[in-house]
Amino acid sequence: MFRGVLEILESYRAGRNAEEISERYGVPQDKILNLGSNEFPYPPPKTVQAAIQDEISKVNRYPDPLSRELKEKLCEYVGLSKTNISVGNGASEVLDTICKITLNPLDKVVIPVPTYSMFIFLSMLRDASLEFVDTERSKFEVRVGDVIKASEDAKLLFLCSPNNPTGKVIKREDIIKIIENTCAIVVVDEAYYEFSKETVAHEIERFDNLIVVRSMSKFFGLAGLRLGYALAGQDIITLLEKARLPFNVNRIAQRAAVEALDEQNWFEKITGEISQERESVIEKINRIKGFKALPSRTNFLLVKLPDKMRAQDIVEELFRKGIIVRDVTGIHGLTGLKCDHIRITIGRREENRRLISALQEIAD
Ligand SMILES: Cc1ncc(COP(=O)(O)O)c(C=O)c1O
Repeated sequence: MFRGVLEILESYRAGRNAEEISERYGVPQDKILNLGSNEFPYPPPKTVQAAIQDEISKVNRYPDPLSRELKEKLCEYVGLSKTNISVGNGASEVLDTICKITLNPLDKVVIPVPTYSMFIFLSMLRDASLEFVDTERSKFEVRVGDVIKASEDAKLLFLCSPNNPTGKVIKREDIIKIIENTCAIVVVDEAYYEFSKETVAHEIERFDNLIVVRSMSKFFGLAGLRLGYALAGQDIITLLEKARLPFNVNRIAQRAAVEALDEQNWFEKITGEISQERESVIEKINRIKGFKALPSRTNFLLVKLPDKMRAQDIVEELFRKGIIVRDVTGIHGLTGLKCDHIRITIGRREENRRLISALQEIAD
């Protein structure tokens, strides 16, 4: 009666949250440190909070269906025109709408792995046929030639730069070379763009098969409100706008995002601190015997564990200590390797210290 794919598709596994860990391990919620979902570690600035408060009394009314003010602000921010943007309920919804407008059953989707598993989940939901392309093993570099070859007869290709969970940026010239050599629609997920400052957003003016997807959950700290956007040529944007649900971005999210875009300097300052912290956390993790944190251009780290340690055990021990990190060992592209991997979000300085001493204790 229901679609066959739902029998084989596993539910998308979002990171654990404080409520769940508190209930299961008996740690009070306010003692839980969530370093599992690559969130921004501070509450929004006061101006954003005031805007949210102000908007609450208006929620009996639908939001602007076209998110006009938000689009205007975002266009100023990215330096593109209003005809080149579509907004959504998180980058996740934007990615889903992209699959909705492109994929027929059995269409081929190419995904270099390891990467963000939502690309796989959403493509499978559309009954697409998936081809994974392995990245080079030691540094997880995308192999341009292999990607071009695999996408010869593909409908859609997902690139993620900087990539989750490896933290790696795909070189601009490599992305361009791929776009130039494929007929597939190329989605470049730049959810972590603000940490690397490397983008191909302006290439949408040159390539009508490019869609850049961004999120306001990371740098702008609005994960709980759900906001993301797509940048693309006018033809693709028209289709995204046609296929998305009406009123997909709620009133509070629209207003908060407009306000957040006025607070760029504050977010830049915090992001600078997070990047500094990241380097210090890498150094400290690499001093723990057998642990190896890979270089990252994001607010998270991919950490290789010592050969004999299982990610599942470490994550469990950290949960007991009230610290949430992500076991990414089982994701495509990270299975069958000699060692297990975990992904750790960079938090505030004192939070990172707590994490490091917990890891040190586990390793001793
Ligand atoms: C690469 C990547 N893209 C998209 C998303 C989803 O972002 P949003 O919270 O805007 O749905 C995430 C979230 O972790 C991500 O890591």
